[in-house]
Amino acid sequence: MTQDTNCPMCDEARDSIVHVDCVTHRYADGTEGIHGMCFRVYPKEIVALCGPNGAGKSTLIEHLNGLMIPNVGRVSIFGKEIDRKNLVDIRRLVGLVFQNADAQLFSPTVIEDVMFGPLNQGMSPEESMKMAKWALDVVGMKETDKVPHYLSGGQKRLVAIAGILAMQPKILVADEPTGDLDPSNAKRIEEILRSLRDEHGISVVVALHDIDMAARLADRICIVKDGGILAEGKPRDILYDEKLLESAGLVLPTVARIFKSLGFDSGVDERPLSIDELITILSKNR
Ligand SMILES: Nc1ncnc2c1ncn2[C@@H]1O[C@H](COP(=O)(O)OP(=O)(O)OP(=O)(O)O)[C@@H](O)[C@H]1O
Ligand SMILES: [Mg+2]
Repeated sequence: MTQDTNCPMCDEARDSIVHVDCVTHRYADGTEGIHGMCFRVYPKEIVALCGPNGAGKSTLIEHLNGLMIPNVGRVSIFGKEIDRKNLVDIRRLVGLVFQNADAQLFSPTVIEDVMFGPLNQGMSPEESMKMAKWALDVVGMKETDKVPHYLSGGQKRLVAIAGILAMQPKILVADEPTGDLDPSNAKRIEEILRSLRDEHGISVVVALHDIDMAARLADRICIVKDGGILAEGKPRDILYDEKLLESAGLVLPTVARIFKSLGFDSGVDERPLSIDELITILSKNR
């Protein structure tokens, strides 16, 4: 699906729907946010970006809908290279939920904010209203007439997510979407991201500091460090590799720590990624 690449590391990118091909991004002060970054997303998968502060996760993410344009390399979405002329089309395909929800909200009321995207895409006011109500219902946000800036941090984030869902993207990119959410809203967002993949066939890219959530949610983990991808693979491999995680300033997920400390770590396929999976294994071995 993607075009030819110059990069041997990107050889496996043929069936990808997002292809970040050896991208370097240099900020105005000369800092390289990412350097020679190669990254792919395949249909119907959830990819978690895990890495320490300043690793380059947000810089990578902001290239996926053309908010940032590479200094070196290129980014393609469904085989189409992002350039300044096709940003409108690209943003229909890729919805981005910012790390800072304040950056995303600007309308006088919550409902208008969520309607903005669909209206901008050419939907009628009636259709846009319907779509906005649906999206707000999905995230569980009831205060639809409130001024977005008077909402709590977590509520702002829910509205920002609704604003992206209302545009029905093919790929959803979320930068630390549960950062300031309480446990029940964080769980709700986790379930929404899972259902986007399972029920709507949407691919999700999510930057997460919550390694336990990454374990439960992701099909693939990319460890981001020093502006590049240090390692990537299945959660049952990557998230059980304590040395690798330590080298990126990360820790084992709680279930992995318990499982290993009980001396259970045998076959890769047996490794639990959630408390429920851990309980099942422990009760079998009782
Ligand atoms: N506007 C900017 N100007 C200069 N340097 C920047 C800018 N934004 C980010 N950087 C630098 O780019 C690098 C990558 O930052 P980025 O925000 O992508 O990291 P991150 O992995 O998202 O971190 P966090 O987990 O803290 O959100 C860091 O060294 C950061 O200081
Ligand atoms: Mg960030």
